[in-house]
Amino acid sequence: MTTRHQALIAALPKVELHLHIEGSLEPEMMFELARRNGVTLPYASVDDIRAAYRFENLQSFLDLYYAGAGVLIEERDFYDLTWAYLRRAQTDNIVHCEIFFDPQTHTGRGIPFATVYRGIRRALDQAKAELGISSKLILSFLRHLSEEDGLQTLEAARPFLAGIDGVGLDSSERGNPPAKFARLFAECKTLGLPRVAHAGEEGPADYIREALDVLDVCRIDHGVRILEDSELVARLARSRTPLTVCPYSNVRLKVCDTLEQHPLRELLAAGLCATINSDDPAYFGGYLQENWLGTTHALKLERTEIVQLAINAFEASWLDAADKAMHIAACRRIAATFPD
Ligand code: ADE
Ligand code: ZN
Repeated sequence: MTTRHQALIAALPKVELHLHIEGSLEPEMMFELARRNGVTLPYASVDDIRAAYRFENLQSFLDLYYAGAGVLIEERDFYDLTWAYLRRAQTDNIVHCEIFFDPQTHTGRGIPFATVYRGIRRALDQAKAELGISSKLILSFLRHLSEEDGLQTLEAARPFLAGIDGVGLDSSERGNPPAKFARLFAECKTLGLPRVAHAGEEGPADYIREALDVLDVCRIDHGVRILEDSELVARLARSRTPLTVCPYSNVRLKVCDTLEQHPLRELLAAGLCATINSDDPAYFGGYLQENWLGTTHALKLERTEIVQLAINAFEASWLDAADKAMHIAACRRIAATFPD
C-alpha cells in the first residue's frame, strides 16, 4: 500500500487504544503453540487457518477467535503472544498502547487468572524497559456471559488490580446491552477503575448512550454507528469523548461494505475525537500502520486530518497530562517537516 502521505504516517509517533491481545495471535504462532501444548487444531496448515478467516459478521469472527485462543495455556504463551505484538508495534512507531485482554476466554477453560495476567504483564514491563513503549492494561468483560460471571472475574482480578489500569466490555454486542453490566461497572467505578465499552459497532447508537449514561465510560470502542444519532454526535463532539475506530475490522466484519465507504472522515468532520486502531490485527489483515495507510489511501485523507488523528490518539489515551503534551508537541514538530 503506497499513499501520498506514507512518509508522514511512518514518522508520526503512534498510539494504539483498541487492541485485543488475543486478536494478535498469528496463525504461525497458533500452530506453534498448539504443537507445544499438545492441542489439536481443526486446520491442516497455516494457509488453512488464513483461508478460514472470511467473516460474515461479528459473531462468525468471535467463534474462530475464541477457538484460536484455546492454544494459550501456559504463562509463557501469554508472554510470547504479548511480546510478539509489542515487537511488531515498535516497527509501526507505536510509542504507547492500551491493550485489552479477555480473562474469561481463558478462565472458562480452566486457565488461572494469574497465569494470563502474569504472562501479559511481564511482556508489557519488558517493552517499557527495552523498547521504550509505555502501556496500559484493560481487563475486558465478555458481554455474552452473565453479569455474575463478570463479578466473579473481578474477584479473581482483585490481587492484581495494581497492574490493571481499567476495564472494558466486548464480545457479541447485539442483544447484550451495556445496562446488563450496570452493577459490575458500578463496582469497578468504586474501585477507581476507568471504564470503556464496545458500543455502536454492530449494535445501535442507543448502546453508546447507555454505555455513557449507565456504565459511565470515558471512551467508546468502535462507535461508528453514532452517525445515526445527531444528538449523540453533538454531545460527544462537545465532551470530546473518544471513539477508538478500527477501519480494517469494520470492513472484515461487514460493519462497512468497503474501506472507501468507511465513515472516519465524517466522524472527524463532526468534531469527534476519533482515532485509528487495529482491533484484532492477526484476523483482519493489518496492524496499526496498515490501518493508517489503507484508510488514508481509501478515504484520500488530507495532511491536516492525519495530524489530527495522531493528536487525537494521545488526547484519548490514559497518559498523564505532561506526557500527552510532550507527545503532541512531537507530532506537531514532525508534521511541520512534511510539507503538503
Ligand atoms: N472481541 C475481539 N474483537 C472484538 C470486536 N471487534 N468486537 C467485539 N468483541 C471483540
Ligand atoms: Zn474490539
